[in-house]
Amino acid sequence: MVKFENVEIKYGDFVAMNNLNLEIQEGEFFTFLGPSGCGKTTSLRTLVGFITPSKGKVIVDGKDITNLPVEKRNIGMVFQSYALFPTMTVYDNIAFGMKVQKLQKAEIDKKVHDIAKKIKITDEQLKKNVSELSGGQQQRVALARAIVLEPKILCLDEPLSNLDAKLRIDMRMELKRLQKELGITTLYVTHDQEEALTLSDRIAVFNNGCIEQVGTPYDIYNASNSEFVCDFIGDINRLGKDILTSVNDQLGTDLDIAKTGFVRIERCVDEKKPDYARITGVIREREFNGVLTKYTLSCMGQSLKYLEKNDGYKYYSEGDHVDLYISPKDIMQF
Ligand SMILES: Nc1ncnc2c1ncn2[C@@H]1O[C@H](COP(=O)(O)OP(=O)(O)OP(=O)(O)O)[C@@H](O)[C@H]1O
Ligand SMILES: [Mg+2]
Repeated sequence: MVKFENVEIKYGDFVAMNNLNLEIQEGEFFTFLGPSGCGKTTSLRTLVGFITPSKGKVIVDGKDITNLPVEKRNIGMVFQSYALFPTMTVYDNIAFGMKVQKLQKAEIDKKVHDIAKKIKITDEQLKKNVSELSGGQQQRVALARAIVLEPKILCLDEPLSNLDAKLRIDMRMELKRLQKELGITTLYVTHDQEEALTLSDRIAVFNNGCIEQVGTPYDIYNASNSEFVCDFIGDINRLGKDILTSVNDQLGTDLDIAKTGFVRIERCVDEKKPDYARITGVIREREFNGVLTKYTLSCMGQSLKYLEKNDGYKYYSEGDHVDLYISPKDIMQF
């Protein structure tokens, strides 16, 4: 339903997005993921209508909207900074767009209360000034304000980035629930790979003005199509020539030793398994996070990481020798 067709976006002479091609389905939760400055916000703002592309088309439901003004697009947007009106009450913030549209007072009132209920804003909070709310509460108001206008498409630019870790996870789940319930096609921008993996139906991984890969979280994680995606979407070990040679010697495989091998750190284990190669190392560092311990080992002159589930029993110290096992099936080469 949303289509970017050969879209190029420029700021003066600088090309921020180079030939963007994407198709987003109706009702989909679609995420733009990538590092800072790669063009996520630029692409989103082009869909909303704040930026006109220098080439290509933006199409919604088969209609070319490339030159349609923002207010005619029926696309809701939540900015990273919320952009709420700080001196207005929560109620007035949510009602604002509907007042601009000149809806009847009674209708506005009903809609404000309905959405407030959905998004868990209390009657008490509706009367407060936005500045009296916490970050998470303001976040909800920003969402309510966008959703109440019943947009066909909802664009969210890093909407959870100002929240603390626990609140982010709570809000993440709430957002997903709400999106499913309302069935709104949602475009979500983040540079947080975990957020992208947990929320999205599909993800587009951006890199420096281009898209590297589009796919489901599962596919992007397990079948990354480039070193960039593989590295950005998870924690990986890079395997150099010596380790790859050792794997080939032990198992008779023919990994290309002229290229780097990549393996997800959670695929490296410290228990012997059939058809796994053994790499011996020495523990250099450990990071305990409760559920898991992340160990860094020095193996054949390079550093490898692996994760151990905390069983309250096995806990290695610096200097311990550990045998790591790696399956050649888990080694990616590009
Ligand atoms: N108004 C502007 N004028 C000129 N260049 C801009 C403007 N806005 C963004 N850029 C440049 O365009 C590129 C893409 O910026 P964009 O804001 O889309 O990145 P982003 O992926 O959203 O990054 P972040 O994760 O940091 O928000 C960057 O190199 C940025 O410097
Ligand atoms: Mg941005």
